Amino acid sequence: KIYYDSDADLAYLKDKTIVFLGFGNQGAAQAQNLRDSGLPNDKILIANRADSYAKDAISKNFNVTDDFGKAAEIADVLFILIPDQVQPRLFNEKVSPSLKQGCTIVIASGYNVLFKFLNIPSTSNVVMVAPRMIGSSVRSLYQNGQGFPCFVSVEQDGAGKALEIALAISQAIGATKAGAIESSAREETAMDLFAEQGLWPNIIMLFQQAFSVLKEAGCSDEALCYEMQVQVYFNNPIITYRRLNTIQLKHHSTVSQFGQLSGALSLDGSTIRKHFENILHNQVLNGSFARDFSKLEDALEKEGPENPLNELYRRAEETELGQAEMRRNIMAIDASPGH
Ligand code: NAI
Repeated sequence: KIYYDSDADLAYLKDKTIVFLGFGNQGAAQAQNLRDSGLPNDKILIANRADSYAKDAISKNFNVTDDFGKAAEIADVLFILIPDQVQPRLFNEKVSPSLKQGCTIVIASGYNVLFKFLNIPSTSNVVMVAPRMIGSSVRSLYQNGQGFPCFVSVEQDGAGKALEIALAISQAIGATKAGAIESSAREETAMDLFAEQGLWPNIIMLFQQAFSVLKEAGCSDEALCYEMQVQVYFNNPIITYRRLNTIQLKHHSTVSQFGQLSGALSLDGSTIRKHFENILHNQVLNGSFARDFSKLEDALEKEGPENPLNELYRRAEETELGQAEMRRNIMAIDASPGH
């Protein structure tokens, strides 16, 4: 089911105090969209530690507090828009104990709720409104009137009217204009973490191997760095499968159409399928990735090689493709934050 503007009613947010926990990629975009949809500024509060994100919120004329407990006490709707690995500790220690009775908690990603990492009272609503876009697109697509797709679900209807509130939120941030797709925390987690851990690593690995084979055959770094940019391939219908049946592929040369379709159809997918199944079931849906990742919360805040993310970047930069990118100063792997 897909919900559009006509299915939603902003009146469900009338007179509600709306708290954004976090003003980063998603928080800044969603808070601004919601305000531009007519929700009064004095009913919106940004709860943020004192950092550059808080300064950004102040510069955009939002009310900001670093007292998470006080914010929780007054929140009728509370968006959790801080990094996933930070959510359990901050929410469980500083927010949950003071949460206003009947509050609606809004998540933009499913797994902390799916694996029950957050202590949420049974009297609260929990809804998921998960944009399928990075924050800057959430904002720019709202501003140019297009809207953006999101996944929406009710995970807990403890205070009542959870779906109506979820749809009002989806409308206020600009999602029902493009379509809010009925989903669940389980489905969102399965698809999101699987794409991140199963699909995209394989695509990156394919690019790295393709680079290496073409380089050995005498192709130049300059030509390869252009050709091996992931974004060049975003428009490639063979990767974005759903475009396969659209007109896009038919705009390619006949050589390209023939090569891509016959090539894809002649591949034996059984090995990759087993690998994909293993990731989905034994890493994503059984919660083992989520549990291990949560343990990295402190390490991910560190500078330098002690931060495991920096270490992964260092190793990626050591690959042949990484080295060439550094020489050419072209980022082939899109490092923009988010999904
Ligand atoms: P972000 O990384 O942009 O979050 C930054 C915010 O978190 C800032 O307000 C910062 O002050 C706060 N923060 C960071 N570390 C903190 C700590 N240790 N203690 C207190 N506050 C801290 O987060 P992002 O990417 O917007 O993600 C928020 C949620 O949205 C996540 O659940 C994510 O999965 C989801 N999401 C993100 C998308 C994206 O485009 N980045 C797309 C769709 C969903």
